[in-house]
Amino acid sequence: MDTTSKTLPLVDQAPATESFREAVLDGLRKPQKKIPSKFMYDERGSKLFDQICELEEYYPTRTEIGIMQDHVDAMVEAIGPRARLVELGSGSSLKTRILLDHLDDLVVYVPIDISRAHLVQAAEKIATDYPDTPVQPLCADYTSSFDLPEPPGPVARTVVYYPGSTVGNFRPEQARAFLGRIADGLDRDAGLLIGVDLKKDVDVLRAAYNDADGVTAAFNLNLLRRINRELDGNFDLDCFEHQGVWNEEEGCMESFLRSTTEQRVTVDGTLFSFDEGETIHMEYSYKYTLDEFAGLVGEAGFSVEQVWTDERDHFSVQYCTIDA
Ligand code: AVJ
Repeated sequence: MDTTSKTLPLVDQAPATESFREAVLDGLRKPQKKIPSKFMYDERGSKLFDQICELEEYYPTRTEIGIMQDHVDAMVEAIGPRARLVELGSGSSLKTRILLDHLDDLVVYVPIDISRAHLVQAAEKIATDYPDTPVQPLCADYTSSFDLPEPPGPVARTVVYYPGSTVGNFRPEQARAFLGRIADGLDRDAGLLIGVDLKKDVDVLRAAYNDADGVTAAFNLNLLRRINRELDGNFDLDCFEHQGVWNEEEGCMESFLRSTTEQRVTVDGTLFSFDEGETIHMEYSYKYTLDEFAGLVGEAGFSVEQVWTDERDHFSVQYCTIDA
């Protein structure tokens, strides 16, 4: 039997290099230089992110997997029969396996990711390991508009799976707008299964984003490497250092790359100068209380139906439905 026969053709809505170029040039022109974190996930960046997930200090992945394992039955019940499972930022689809192990009548699994090669590989692995589940990979930047492909059969309910607390990469207003657009694009009986990292002891947070092995640093620096390769840049990676900083007022971890010296860099023919100590803002990772998040999704048009957490209340997985 051909076990990969259920991988449907890749649907390619990947953004042009143009959008990467524009985002980088625009971001580096700002008084506080910044580069949107969604561009971190090129082939190497996706692999470095997988390594982050295995770090001792990086509690979110481990904790979320534990919650999923402990409560998968309730999650599967919420998802219901003959569903379409759409994953935003599917990466290696590791956590999804916990669901797929228990969802035996899924109409289709639609992993969406911006990193095409990584997506194709991950989709093939899933299709091989779950031969009864059609897999319909969609290469897209899910933060801008995307069109879900026609499912291969009638779907009782579409459930959007958004694990990893990736929602924390948005500033709260953007998260609200983004989740609002997702809600608008779904039927009224649709669901959202979302991983949300919670506010906690700041030392735990700082350690998670400043690991001793320097994997998080490499993950951030990789974006400069990508700019050098794809946008004809000449960043000297040895002249930038990673900093993960807790912003108490905003309630988020922020990643910066700090220029260790006064220097000039060209990207695509444009010159950018850095003072010693000047930073590039690389990423937000917002942390929420359960109440804060319920308020945020509420404004986006969802209501929280169920919340599952670990015993330390470090992380949550939440099932939300669309308000009637
Ligand atoms: C995948 C966005 C959830 O913010 O915790 C991990 C990415 N950055 N370490 C996060 C990340 C640095 C991660 N998300």
